[in-house]
Amino acid sequence: MQPSIPPSPISPPLAGARAYPAGGLAFPHRDLTGIGLLARHEILFLLDEAEQWVELNRQSQKRAGLLSGLTIINAFFENSTRTLLSFEIAGKRLGADVVNMHAATSSVKKGETLIDTAMTLNAMRADAIVIRHASSGAVRLIAGKVDCPVLNAGDGQHEHPTQALLDALTIRQALHLPRGSDLNGLIVTICGDILHSRVARSNILSLTALGAVVRVCAPPALMPAEIEAMGVTVFHDFDAALKGANVVMMLRLQQERMQGQFIPSPREYRHLYGLTLDRLARAEPDALVMHPGPMNRGVEIDSQVADHPTRSLITHQVECGVAIRMACLDVLTRRARGVAGWESQPSSPAGAAYGAPA
Ligand code: MLT
Repeated sequence: MQPSIPPSPISPPLAGARAYPAGGLAFPHRDLTGIGLLARHEILFLLDEAEQWVELNRQSQKRAGLLSGLTIINAFFENSTRTLLSFEIAGKRLGADVVNMHAATSSVKKGETLIDTAMTLNAMRADAIVIRHASSGAVRLIAGKVDCPVLNAGDGQHEHPTQALLDALTIRQALHLPRGSDLNGLIVTICGDILHSRVARSNILSLTALGAVVRVCAPPALMPAEIEAMGVTVFHDFDAALKGANVVMMLRLQQERMQGQFIPSPREYRHLYGLTLDRLARAEPDALVMHPGPMNRGVEIDSQVADHPTRSLITHQVECGVAIRMACLDVLTRRARGVAGWESQPSSPAGAAYGAPA
């Protein structure tokens, strides 16, 4: 069941305003390695492109043949369920041949370097490569070595751009905001392991670019130093961070990235930073709840909140994830497919000539 959503607290886009340039100038990048390299209008362009795929995915016939004949390789060097599946479904819905490479069963286990793996994937003439890797910056490194578009499916603590895009689309849809809308004035509280979370980082970049007021909340040990420079307000008291929030985004404790003890115990963490129904009452009366998954129920979020029929957007996030990944795969392969208006050369894969960040 989709939540019934309160009226939007934010203003609609200016009537007749042109959100982004025409043709390939709307997205002049070869790769999608991070939100930090995108201008506001480029984020809006991808969100708008994804709307058609949300609609298609709700039909019984879900197939579009746009990418027929193309090969997409999902190279996942780190575990994933929803992101891998979502990219796989997205590629297949667009008609591409999709191949998944799992690091656990690949030559990486035999000591092959990342660059050698990249060269191998390149020699197979993939038309797009989707990469998840435990090291921040690994995706950028591979993008500089291959000839096709590269999409970042999460690199270490750095970025998870399609997660931030799907989150923005989910919010926009939940608030019934039309295409072209930004999130100006919306108060979003992100709570959890901000220090280790690439989801937090990409969301801060995207939400602030779209005009949202972003609050981050975590115990001091899980808050990056000088994060205020990203345009957010820092809280250590979750109750205070919730006051007036329109959206509450909860994050998992990233145990796999922690070296040492960052919290006294999961029980104490839940007591101070877990989202319960009682605590949610401190936010705006209709505040919406999000979580990128996987969730640790009873730690950062209670089941009553996660499964709330009108407040939780968690399954809607998964739905928007497929649509966003379809939009990204379509847009990034347009030049290679010779789509009219998309002939111009994209920016350097090495990143030197990328458009100015928002
Ligand atoms: C990620 O890959 O970062 C996930 O989507 C969020 C998480 O693992 O907590």
